[in-house]
Amino acid sequence: MSEIIIYGSFYGTTKKYAEALSDKTGIKACSYKDVKDINSYRTIIYLGGLYAGGVEGMKKTLKNLTDITNKKLIIATVGLADPADKQNTDHIKSKMRTQISPEIYEKACIFHLRGGIDYSKISLLHKTMMNMVYKKALSVPEEERTAEIRAMIETYNKQVDFVDLNSLEPLIKCHLMSP
Ligand SMILES: Cc1cc2nc3c(=O)[nH]c(=O)nc-3n(C[C@H](O)[C@H](O)[C@H](O)COP(=O)(O)O)c2cc1C
Repeated sequence: MSEIIIYGSFYGTTKKYAEALSDKTGIKACSYKDVKDINSYRTIIYLGGLYAGGVEGMKKTLKNLTDITNKKLIIATVGLADPADKQNTDHIKSKMRTQISPEIYEKACIFHLRGGIDYSKISLLHKTMMNMVYKKALSVPEEERTAEIRAMIETYNKQVDFVDLNSLEPLIKCHLMSP
């Protein structure tokens, strides 16, 4: 009973992960925009695309949780930065802490998945934002560039797809573990 996969996705990569997870677990997936009563679910799996460190829709959605005592929470971010790099995941996690309560952060199992981008398809606002990030990245001396900065420069204005549905396996294992 009462399990849900919720996703926040602009361009579909997070939705793709959410739908694959839904197929593998049999849990219904829906956009955070369509969630009616989040408190009625005992297990909540939230997947959100990363936008300037923010997890799309997460803050807005999870702030409606009133009592998490008996709940199972799983959160997965989907971004361009390589989650195999600890510096990247530390950075993502530090930003996440500013978006959700310490109780939710401590209780949730957190995962990081890799998404993709097609610059020819993103909105003008997002293009402008990425151009600013790119210029800032270029201004960092080469020897000081983190993996995240280097990946940003390498993928700028390109179409890249790092979606790997097998990377959902640890999340599925966590879901199967009790409670
Ligand atoms: C404006 C903008 C900001 C982004 N900021 C980040 C970021 O802070 N960290 C990151 O890893 N990826 C970032 N990305 C890349 C997206 O997280 C990535 O494309 C993701 O797969 C998008 O998910 P979606 O297709 O479900 O919307 C950004 C992309 C755009 C367009």
